[in-house]
Amino acid sequence: HGPAPTSPTGIPLDVGPTYAAQHGEYLTTAGGTRLRETDISLKAGPRGPILLRDHHLREKITHFDHERIPERVVHARGAAAHGHFEANGAAERLTCAAFLRSGAQTPVFLRFSNVVGSRGSMDTARDTRGFATKFYTEEGIFDLVGNNMAVFFIQDGIKFPDLVHAVKPNPSNEIPQAQSAHDGFWDFVSLRTEAQAHTMWQMSDRGIPRSYRMMEGFGVHTFRLVNADGATSLVKWHWKPASGVHSLTWEEAQLAAGNDPDYLRRDLADAIESGAFPSWDLGVQVFPDTEDQMFDGIDLLDPTKFVPEELAPVQIVGTMTLDANPVNYFAETEQVAFHPGHLVRGIDVTNDPLLQARLFSYIDTQLTRLAGPNFEQIPINRTHAPVNDMLRDGSHQSGDQGGAAPYHPNSLDAGCPFMADDTSAAFIDVPEEVAASHTVREQSASFDDHFSQATLFYRSLTPVEREHVAQAYSFELGKCFEQAVKERQLGHLANIDDELAERVAAALGIPVPESTVPPATDVEVSPALSQVGESWPV
Ligand code: HEM
Repeated sequence: HGPAPTSPTGIPLDVGPTYAAQHGEYLTTAGGTRLRETDISLKAGPRGPILLRDHHLREKITHFDHERIPERVVHARGAAAHGHFEANGAAERLTCAAFLRSGAQTPVFLRFSNVVGSRGSMDTARDTRGFATKFYTEEGIFDLVGNNMAVFFIQDGIKFPDLVHAVKPNPSNEIPQAQSAHDGFWDFVSLRTEAQAHTMWQMSDRGIPRSYRMMEGFGVHTFRLVNADGATSLVKWHWKPASGVHSLTWEEAQLAAGNDPDYLRRDLADAIESGAFPSWDLGVQVFPDTEDQMFDGIDLLDPTKFVPEELAPVQIVGTMTLDANPVNYFAETEQVAFHPGHLVRGIDVTNDPLLQARLFSYIDTQLTRLAGPNFEQIPINRTHAPVNDMLRDGSHQSGDQGGAAPYHPNSLDAGCPFMADDTSAAFIDVPEEVAASHTVREQSASFDDHFSQATLFYRSLTPVEREHVAQAYSFELGKCFEQAVKERQLGHLANIDDELAERVAAALGIPVPESTVPPATDVEVSPALSQVGESWPV
């Protein structure tokens, strides 16, 4: 009984006037026929075989047989919550996106996740965490599909299957070992040294967050914003938690994995249930949209690089608060479908080669994971903006498909939609000059520096945090069987920081290798660039 459930953001979770699932007074079939018996199958006599005729038995078992859908290929384990985002208007000069106008309130759904672990894995494994936010804006869905680390493993999407195959469990026995501790992981990241910066973040305390409420989020890639006058700027997105950034110690993470494998999802649900609503400020680092898309020698199209906040301060554009738990884990948290290509006007992508591959990958995988092309109609994925997409049919089509002439243009249907006739209402791809006379399989030379950012991050840590990093490398590399892999990775640590390499070498009982790159120096904030940071306030 009671009203049909809606999600806390007002999305109806039951569709249709009579289909208030699980709220009827009597037990029924899926078709609504009342039942008298659900404990004993229809048989030919008390000791006889079961009859195929038992339609209730067949429906019950058949539905059960199909209860599982494929888990996500990555980020399979997750927990989510509803909330809202309120813009402070600071981004109005940069973007015409309506949800970033001063005072605009937008419902959101946020899913946190572990990248590597399967759906049933433990929460507190050392891993990168997903931080994916769906904004139900009045102009359509905007998804900010980020992580809790500012840099990514790889520079080009073509390496993503290799990366994921290296970090997932061994295919011969499906034993995950300590998630990121097996030879495959260290083999890959020591051969593809572009991964060294991300690995350093993972081995730091950020790899074992104390709570989802205490994680930063990063969009990682550089995006392009467009304002009402058509002026563009480049930005990196940041989420700053009101509760600060806190981590577990390794011992706590291990104990929690045994005592409470649901440690992080329970923490999130309990906090919201008790009214302690977690919140984050959303901010942007802003860079001029120059031809070379570089900033202080850092290539803004390279997703393995971050820009230190000393060089480009994070400027806050709004605040998100999570205030309601999902009412149906499967319907909401499992079926939510994020996509970096869910953009609204005023926000566009750049040519970061990792981002470009992502634009293809998410819809492609969701076609399988969510069984067909109509997953945008699942209540949790529905936009709050009016839709007239002229897409037709496909499995589970449940929308009103409108008039008789679903093509554009047409003169037969009074409901034929208009095209937005000006930029004030429509998404416009930012025109960009493409400087190429021929196709290549090359990347820019600025992608070749694989160690300086690992050094920069490591040297920004406190002595205790550095100690934790050394312990994490020692523990995880200590689980490797292949001596050559350990030695290769140790060689890279020598490129990152001498003292770190010495500590880990001592723990592993291996001599310290020679560094193969020139000694790293601390990053220097040049006065000219810090002025650029200041001269691009939002
Ligand atoms: C999930 C692909 C890089 C963040 C996924 C999924 C795929 C995927 C196939 C599963 C989606 C689903 O089943 O709904 C890729 C590819 C990448 C890439 C091909 C590189 C080319 C990244 C990066 C980030 C990221 C750089 C962070 C900035 C996420 C998050 C999820 C996810 C947060 C989970 C979304 C959710 O909660 O449902 N990715 N990914 N991915 N990815 Fe990526």
